[in-house]
Amino acid sequence: MRAATIRDGEVAVAEHPDPEPGSGEVLVRVRAAGLNGADIHQRSGHYPAPPGSPQDIPGLELAGEVVARGPGAERFVEGDRVMAIVGGGGQAELATVHERQLMPIPDALSFTEAGGVPEVFTTAHDALFTQAGLRPGERLLVQGAAGGVGTAGVQLGATAGAHVTASVRSADLREGVAALGAHEVIEPEGFAERGPFDVVLELVGAPNLAGDLQALATSGRIVVIGIGGGAKAELNLGAMMGRRATVRASTLRPRPLEEKALTARALERHVLPLFERGALRVPVAATYPLDAVADAYERFTTGGKLGKIVLEMA
Ligand SMILES: NC(=O)c1ccc[n+]([C@@H]2O[C@H](COP(=O)([O-])OP(=O)(O)OC[C@H]3O[C@@H](n4cnc5c(N)ncnc54)[C@H](OP(=O)(O)O)[C@@H]3O)[C@@H](O)[C@H]2O)c1
Repeated sequence: MRAATIRDGEVAVAEHPDPEPGSGEVLVRVRAAGLNGADIHQRSGHYPAPPGSPQDIPGLELAGEVVARGPGAERFVEGDRVMAIVGGGGQAELATVHERQLMPIPDALSFTEAGGVPEVFTTAHDALFTQAGLRPGERLLVQGAAGGVGTAGVQLGATAGAHVTASVRSADLREGVAALGAHEVIEPEGFAERGPFDVVLELVGAPNLAGDLQALATSGRIVVIGIGGGAKAELNLGAMMGRRATVRASTLRPRPLEEKALTARALERHVLPLFERGALRVPVAATYPLDAVADAYERFTTGGKLGKIVLEMA
């Protein structure tokens, strides 16, 4: 098979042996695979894949068709349309995935759209509901809202009945984020004056943390998911005590199979039906064929996009 391959800090297409599904695994012919910030870090050697995942083939998510099943795999049959988060190896023509990580692709979604769903909708759903316990009527701030996780978080928050404020640094993208259901879209400067917020989905990182806390309502929760802007911040513990504040932080990729399976079941139950009803959509900023994987990475790092960059396999 052909796959995006990282060598010496560059990404290009190379030939690899076809993978074979092990016990409980399914072989997926990948039709589309979204790009994520982790791929960019992995390309530069700063974010190795977890043990058990291909080390040189990037890709944290995929969508495609089942072509074979390993021993004991019985949730899906050949020809089923499936999508999943994976520890790595998603940006390839073929990938093996444990069946408990796989989800059916809603009929309403194309392969390309589905390729941009698993990583960002799982991350946003887990952060907002499983970790922060977001409830209807609460006020949510999404920091860095125009990207993949942000556009998922805005839509999930609005659909769940929260009042959603989205901070977006590119003026050109604010209208697009409002169209996804954000009740107000603001520039990042001065966001701390716009509270109080019950939940902050922090996708930019350390530079925002003091302002996040300042803008937090009593019993508010901050969930740190992205640290592209910086990882080290000072926290005023007195302000945390005064607000009975919670600060949480999380990653998805290193979680064991049983925990990833739980996130997949949560998405099947609470998110996929919303795609079927047309209440959620996948903003795809650009698509690239596998052969142009280097251009796709370049586009991702340039920024200024609404939603996802997706690789399409022939
Ligand atoms: N913890 C986890 O499990 C997990 C899972 C998925 C993603 N992540 C991380 O979460 C972050 C968001 O992921 P994503 O897929 O949404 O990435 P993305 O598509 O690249 O979006 C990032 C968004 O944040 C904005 N942004 C970046 N730096 C900013 C800054 N200093 N000030 C204001 N806005 C800024 C970007 O704006 P521009 O377009 O203008 O640059 C973009 O709209 C990334 O750091 C990613 O690595 C973590």
